[in-house]
Amino acid sequence: MMHRLSFILRLSSFIFLLTACDSGDIQEQTYATDDRGHTVRLTAILSGIDSWESRYTVSLAGFTTGDNYAQVVRTLPNTTPDGTRVELVLSNIGDDINTVELAITNRLRERIITLARVNMEDYADTRDTIRMDLGQLDVGRFGALQLGLFNQACIQCHGGNGGAGAASLNLTQERAYAQLVDVASTRREGMKRVEPGDAQASLLHQLLAEGGENLLHVNHTEILSNQFRENLSEVRQLIDDWINGINF
Ligand code: HEC
Repeated sequence: MMHRLSFILRLSSFIFLLTACDSGDIQEQTYATDDRGHTVRLTAILSGIDSWESRYTVSLAGFTTGDNYAQVVRTLPNTTPDGTRVELVLSNIGDDINTVELAITNRLRERIITLARVNMEDYADTRDTIRMDLGQLDVGRFGALQLGLFNQACIQCHGGNGGAGAASLNLTQERAYAQLVDVASTRREGMKRVEPGDAQASLLHQLLAEGGENLLHVNHTEILSNQFRENLSEVRQLIDDWINGINF
């Protein structure tokens, strides 16, 4: 009887451990450590985390240039409610790490898209904690495209200077969604900029995919591949997942 009881106890604590991992409590996975390394502290008020399916996570991650897999990662649980004030600390950041990024990563620690970044070489001379205070951010699927794609590679021509934007398309925050989804193209007759639920039929997809080079007078495929050298296919996939997931 005693034997059986202790077995059950052990079994239940084992199950507890499993669920504790699975529930996505903040986990630290360190793959490269250096006792004298840097520390980065991220603070932000985040929303949209729970819009990610379980294979993706919002994380603070350290990368080496040329490698799309993070060396060091701290992740947030996908159950984090909107408006949560988040603090993530990444410590023991070795000299092999070139950037620390708020990023969407997958289960293999691979970078999908970068939402904010710190270049470690800017802090080579200090051992103080490096602060990343990001304020309020939407890091859901569309929010991630806004921060990581449109703000980085598109708004310089599409509305960032306050005008209507090239081809009357404004991709700045608060405007991009309404100007893309279910809106007729001004350049390709019969096409929509984004056809809800159908990436393949959407001009946004075709323009940025391989083969989209000559679709318009500006080579957008090249704009994308210049910006995203290490995670080009991941960004393309994210755009497609977003479009295919729109229920209209
Ligand atoms: C160097 C300036 C420039 C950049 C950067 C740029 N675009 Fe464009 N974009 C244009 C111009 C110019 C056109 C119109 C081309 C034409 O008339 O053939 C256009 C057209 C478009 C169209 C078609 C709009 C319509 O109504 O048919 C979409 C969609 C688009 N861009 C998306 C993007 C996205 C997404 C990015 C970022 C990855 C981006 N663009 C970056 C200049 C730019």
